[in-house]
Amino acid sequence: MARIFSGIQPSGELHIGNYLGAVKNWVRLQAEHPGAIYCVVDYHAITGSYDPAVLRARRWEMARSLLAAGIDPAQAVLFMQSDVPEHTELSWIFTTITPLGDLERQTQFKDKSSKMESIPAGLLMYPVLQAADILLYRADSVPVGEDQVQHLELARDTSRKWNAKFNVEFFPEPKPLLTPTRRILGLDGSAKMSKSLGNTVGLLEDDESIWQKLRPAVTDPARVRKTDPGNPDVCNIFQLHKAFSSEATQAHVAQQCRSAGWGCMDCKKVLHEGMVAELTPIRRRAELLAAEPARIADALSDGGKVARGIARETIDRVRDIMGLGSLHAP
Ligand code: TRP
Repeated sequence: MARIFSGIQPSGELHIGNYLGAVKNWVRLQAEHPGAIYCVVDYHAITGSYDPAVLRARRWEMARSLLAAGIDPAQAVLFMQSDVPEHTELSWIFTTITPLGDLERQTQFKDKSSKMESIPAGLLMYPVLQAADILLYRADSVPVGEDQVQHLELARDTSRKWNAKFNVEFFPEPKPLLTPTRRILGLDGSAKMSKSLGNTVGLLEDDESIWQKLRPAVTDPARVRKTDPGNPDVCNIFQLHKAFSSEATQAHVAQQCRSAGWGCMDCKKVLHEGMVAELTPIRRRAELLAAEPARIADALSDGGKVARGIARETIDRVRDIMGLGSLHAP
């Protein structure tokens, strides 16, 4: 059976963009693939300047959000990347077989580095660490969004190259398992939903503050007056209906929009109901976890143990194949 691995940056509390774009899929997959491995990638989060206290808080909040969203430590392995030092060891090994040109061609590197005066080498190596994350567990299926496809290609190249160099069939070729939901745009209706752009709805926000964000959110720009018919296909609010409302409601909403039967506020109220229904249980679980932080710590500690066990096995084999380590006399 496929082994699932995925990682998420410790950006703090989840927002509905990364919930719908990734984590909801993780929750679904953990039931089908017992032992799925999910990692908060804190080593990836230090390639820019950052405040250690903020990182510490964000790692914790991410772990709490993931557990609240339904990642179940009884089914999946949830851990902090930096609790498993083998990630960095395998990453170093992979740097020795990765062509510099392949790294310089990565879109994410080009975007981020173009805005920097001094580029940390770690930013260039980011996808190598990502390949190490995946291959350390010999995972072959990686649930990610569209934006990670290029990084996954590099991970496949790395696997193939390492196997060929040492003439073994050790690492699998990890494939992206693309999230069914389309990329979620922010409430401005134009940019990707992202915390740094301030266009998100937090996964743990209360009903009233969700409404305060939905109210001014951008809809079909052609609907200036309530009597103007709208086009749900170009409306970001309708995209959110697809994630939070039943198919019957979606059909009704679309029809009311096209016929100008409803104004955008009516449509947003129905969306709000759907969001509240899905997010309330998540918020309740998050509150319980906040009251019992030991449950978060225990989950991470148990997950770290399982992950280290698998990682250790892989690294021992890798070292042996590469002529490193001291497993036996030559
Ligand atoms: N680069 C991924 C992102 O920004 C996070 C990540 C790191 C990841 N390591 C991974 C995703 C391994 C999947 C598998 O979303």
